[in-house]
Amino acid sequence: MLYDVIVVGSGISGLYAALYARRAGLNVALICKSNPLRSNSAVASGGINAVLKTTRQDSIREHIADTLKGADKLGRFSAVSAMVAGAEEIINELQAMGVVFDTTDEGTIAQRPFGGTKASRTCYIADKTGASITQTLLVQCRKEGVNILQNHVMLSIATYKDQLSGITLLRRRDSQVIAFACKSLILAGGGYAGIYRGHSTNSQESSGDVIAIALRAKMRLSNMEFVQFHPTTLANSGTLISEAARGEGAYIVDENGERFTDELLTRDKLSRNIVKHQLAGHSVYLDFRHLGEELIDKKLPSARKHALNGAGIDILSELLPITPSAHYTMGGIWVRDNTSTDIPNVFACGECAYSGVHGANRLGGNSLLEAAYFGRLAGIEASRAAKKGEFHPIDYALVDKEARYVEAILEGENR
Ligand code: FUM
Repeated sequence: MLYDVIVVGSGISGLYAALYARRAGLNVALICKSNPLRSNSAVASGGINAVLKTTRQDSIREHIADTLKGADKLGRFSAVSAMVAGAEEIINELQAMGVVFDTTDEGTIAQRPFGGTKASRTCYIADKTGASITQTLLVQCRKEGVNILQNHVMLSIATYKDQLSGITLLRRRDSQVIAFACKSLILAGGGYAGIYRGHSTNSQESSGDVIAIALRAKMRLSNMEFVQFHPTTLANSGTLISEAARGEGAYIVDENGERFTDELLTRDKLSRNIVKHQLAGHSVYLDFRHLGEELIDKKLPSARKHALNGAGIDILSELLPITPSAHYTMGGIWVRDNTSTDIPNVFACGECAYSGVHGANRLGGNSLLEAAYFGRLAGIEASRAAKKGEFHPIDYALVDKEARYVEAILEGENR
């Protein structure tokens, strides 16, 4: 098959990128290794950050400053300021596509506080924000004619004389290795926090496979050591209990009911405080009991459901045991501010890319913003490059090599 643009990954960044490439009038394939609703975007529940015209006591300048401070000063100012300045437009665009954000009594978009800021700047849909945005973008991609290919696993980038020619993939349905040609490629395949099996909020599919493909293609990676631990996940499984809980006023307490930390610290600091308290012999819990059933059912329904299904606990009356788990990886494929990479016509966005906005530690609510903002930019840039570009031949020796490798795995041999 020949495509103008191929997008690999179906989280919010991949969906946004595919939509914008399609809107440029191009033939676009979106490659997804399983179900788009298993992406890490769909897991990020608590909200998306934006300073809106209606936001009180906040400013773009403060959002930039909080993001850079949260990043331990390792963020890239140019990328952070572009993303933050573009946030309100993203929220308006998502609303126009059909995302129904929660609203205040005055009818404006409701915003809650998240860690690492004094402002209430996180827009939300209860505690299901990522899943709602993902579903809307998926419907929009289908409506506008993006070819969505589920159950296809990318294997490698094919090049011809150092120019992009396409990708090889494993088609899961029949275990065939196939190749698609393209003029531009967008890598949006997610991060690698899923490799902390049993101690991660991510599905096991967040394995960093697309980042490894980039490395094998000699692309630069950056900041791979920065892995974010989410402070509040179910102690027995790593299931995410959204930061929305603390944003709405849940406490972190120990077995004596003592609050021992500020609940709205940045995630790195709060996770460290929790682990220190655990190492001192304490158990750590989220306490929702003072919030009341009405607020919990309206704003934190997923937290209640996860606690009941995952730990048999009713958060209306019981403490919920929690612990930090791997949640997000800040490092990834090195990109310029316009999402371009070391290989011409190859772009990267979302968690698999090191966009420079999160430095050593990401603020909650900035990942969905990053995914949407840089996904859209990647779609625009890749389309521009595809319109100027041409198809190059695919080296079938590569396809043959991949096919033999897959056959060896299927036959149970290990090389
Ligand atoms: O806690 C959360 O809802 C996660 C949000 C995020 O990672 O941005």
